Amino acid sequence: MTQTSSSKIGYDVTTLTPHQNYKLLCGSVVPRPIAWVSCRSLEGMSNIAPFSFFNIVCTDPPMLAFSVSKPLVQGKAVKDTLAFVRRSREFVVNIPTAELIDELVLTSIEYEPDVDEFDAAGLTALPCHRVAAPRIGEAPVSFECVLHSAIDLGASTLVLGRVVYAHFRDGLVAEDCKPDPRKLRPLGRMPGPRFSTEMNIVLRAAALSDPDAGIHSTVVWHRDESR
Ligand SMILES: Cc1cc2nc3c(=O)[nH]c(=O)nc-3n(C[C@H](O)[C@H](O)[C@H](O)COP(=O)(O)O)c2cc1C
Repeated sequence: MTQTSSSKIGYDVTTLTPHQNYKLLCGSVVPRPIAWVSCRSLEGMSNIAPFSFFNIVCTDPPMLAFSVSKPLVQGKAVKDTLAFVRRSREFVVNIPTAELIDELVLTSIEYEPDVDEFDAAGLTALPCHRVAAPRIGEAPVSFECVLHSAIDLGASTLVLGRVVYAHFRDGLVAEDCKPDPRKLRPLGRMPGPRFSTEMNIVLRAAALSDPDAGIHSTVVWHRDESR
């Protein structure tokens, strides 16, 4: 740890332990969206697990990605999600809400592969349109995905999926494919066992670029919609 200026501390992350780097990153990149991933083995066993190393990585074509670390369970080589997705090449990213926090935490337990986490958490498995994996009936949004690639990155594997179908709860998509985040109430991941459940939404928009007027990235201030 070094003092880089009077008000900042610097870390040479190459000298830190993986756990120290985990804490630095996971305490800074917050709140993180959560992919509540449901999938199915080739033998027909269903699985659910949450992953907060998750985001959109492309919109044309629409693609999502999440990253899977090594299991905590001794003697297990990979988490069930990764093992199932690698073989079935399909999965569903469901978006969890604040009301589903207890069910979500239950699905983060590292069960044996023969435990159906829909049963363990009391969740409803619904059929999908384009993939054999089930979606979570209680989730307001579900994206059916086919595996694009799985990239090993040291101790984690980045799973990239192409979205092939999307489900939204009635009333959530207001107009022209715009889901309303206030109605969604998504759950966010904070450090350790903490979650964020509320959003304060404010409006800001950059002006359209107008080089003749010398405008490149000016911010236009809008009415505050946070209340
Ligand atoms: C909110 C939350 C977010 C999580 N994010 C991740 C993640 O990004 N990557 C990961 O490998 N594990 C993550 N976990 C842990 C997995 O959900 C957990 O290891 C799970 O049991 C894996 O299940 P599986 O073996 O059925 O795939 C997270 C857990 C919680 C509660």
